[in-house]
Amino acid sequence: MRAEAATYAARPDLAARVGEIADPWPEFIHHANCNRLWHVMRERFPQFQLVLFDADSERMLGRGQTMPVRWDGTAAGLPGGVDDAVEQGAALADGEADTLCAIVAVLDPAARGRRLSSLVIDAMRSAAATAGLQALIAPVRPTLKEIYPLTAIESYATWRRDDGRLFDPWLRVHERLGGDVLGIAERSMTVEGKVGEWEIWTEMPFPETGSYVLPGALVPIEIDCEADLGRYVEPNVWMRHSPRGA
Ligand SMILES: CC(C)(COP(=O)(O)OP(=O)(O)OC[C@H]1O[C@@H](n2cnc3c(N)ncnc32)[C@H](O)[C@@H]1OP(=O)(O)O)[C@@H](O)C(=O)NCCC(=O)NCCS
Repeated sequence: MRAEAATYAARPDLAARVGEIADPWPEFIHHANCNRLWHVMRERFPQFQLVLFDADSERMLGRGQTMPVRWDGTAAGLPGGVDDAVEQGAALADGEADTLCAIVAVLDPAARGRRLSSLVIDAMRSAAATAGLQALIAPVRPTLKEIYPLTAIESYATWRRDDGRLFDPWLRVHERLGGDVLGIAERSMTVEGKVGEWEIWTEMPFPETGSYVLPGALVPIEIDCEADLGRYVEPNVWMRHSPRGA
């Protein structure tokens, strides 16, 4: 197998086949605020969307999506997270962006566990460099946080193994590639819905007001039966990479 990355702009034929990569997300994630403007990345910025494929068989291995944004280089000036980066990027006029923001990276389950994920981040960095952008920033969703939903992310993000590397596998990949932690995106992605909608999305009943731990959620969701509202506010970890070649 020869894993290679290409942009949607360079390989629209492969971009049309991203549906062949299995959807890793629990249903509720598809109802996040950012989903309203998700299409903008693909439609306006195909040069910043990536596919990972096997150049021998043309089998789809994974994808990476990003949004160009403006950033002043400070931790305080970062977007609020995934929702905010998608919204900010969609509102920018052509040529106003100076930074690329990673939004999502997904490998097909059959392609996981072979360190191919670093190729997706590398391809994002290359796309940023090609466009002359100053940095790749990423509100990173730590993959194992879901099994520690009651642990504060500020603490979880600092956990290290005995070998000194970060505990979380996805944070570890970013760090191995030279990424620096910039801080916590406390409200990176919000999902809101009526209690009945949450019950459909999760196939769980929520009989009374309270906090609930869900499969696939990094923190508990808050259910308010009186207000008929369920809210999930996902925190992520901001990391920064220099563009490739810089
Ligand atoms: C996140 C993702 C792209 C990483 O790709 P991957 O193929 O699983 O990971 P890699 O093979 O590149 O390995 C990365 C590290 O994770 C570790 N790892 C992979 N799966 C693991 C698991 N289930 N539990 C613990 N560690 C795991 C690997 O050992 C490796 O660590 P090491 O290099 O220190 O040995 C992939 O798991 C995925 O698509 N997940 C679903 C979507 C997602 O969560 N995306 C990220 C947020 S947008």
